[in-house]
Amino acid sequence: MVTVRSLGHACYTVADGRYTLILDPFLTGNADAVCGPDDVQVDYILVSHGHGDHLGDAIPMSVKQGAPIIGVAELCRYCAGKGAEVVAMHIGGARDFPFGSVKLTQAFHGSAVMDDEGIIYTGLACGFLIACGDRTIYFAGDTGLFGDMALIARGRKIDVAILPIGDNYTMGIEDATFAAQMLEPRVVIPTHYHLFEPIRKDPGAFADGVAGLGIECRILAPGEETEV
Ligand code: NI
Ligand code: MN
Repeated sequence: MVTVRSLGHACYTVADGRYTLILDPFLTGNADAVCGPDDVQVDYILVSHGHGDHLGDAIPMSVKQGAPIIGVAELCRYCAGKGAEVVAMHIGGARDFPFGSVKLTQAFHGSAVMDDEGIIYTGLACGFLIACGDRTIYFAGDTGLFGDMALIARGRKIDVAILPIGDNYTMGIEDATFAAQMLEPRVVIPTHYHLFEPIRKDPGAFADGVAGLGIECRILAPGEETEV
C-alpha cells in the first residue's frame, strides 16, 4: 500500500509508511502548491527533467534534508554541482533502493534549466517506474504519447499511473486516454492540467474517457491524497 498525495501541479509524494519519495518538487513560486519545501520531509527526490516546474526546489531540499536526487546523469551532474546529493541513472536503467526500486522510462519532452542567462542542457526528460510499498507506480513526467508505453509494464500490473493531460506541452486528454489504454493501470491520476492558461483542462473529461476503458480515475486536488 502506498499513499499518493498531490502537492500541486506535477508534484506528488509517494509514501509507504517508512519512506517518503517526492516527485518533481516544484513548490516555491507554484501558485497551486499546498506547502513549501520545508513543510515536507522526504527520503528521495525524483526529478523528471530540468524545467522549472519540475526541478523546482529539488536542489535546496536535497542540500537541506540530505535526500538524494534521482534522475538522468546530466541533470544529476547539474544538481551535484550545486551541492545536491544525487543518484545518477539513465533511461532504461533500474536500480534497487531501500523502499523498492526505480526504473527510468523514456519521455518525449525537452530538458533544460532555463533562466535569464540562457539555457543549460540537462539531458533527456524521463519518467519513472517505481516499486514502493508492494505497489508499482508509473509517473510519466512531461511527455507526448508514444506507442512504447505499451512496453513499460511488461507483464507487471501498474497500480497507479500519473499521466499529464494538459496538452500544449504534454499529452492532452485524448492522447492520455490512449496512454491509459496501453498502460492498463488499476488507477490513473491526471496531472499537469491547471497551473497556467494553455494547459488548463477539465480532468472530469479525462475521467469519463478512461471510465469507458474500465480504468478508475482519481482526481487529486492539491493537498488531497489517495491510498493505492
Ligand atoms: Ni517540462
Ligand atoms: Mn511541465
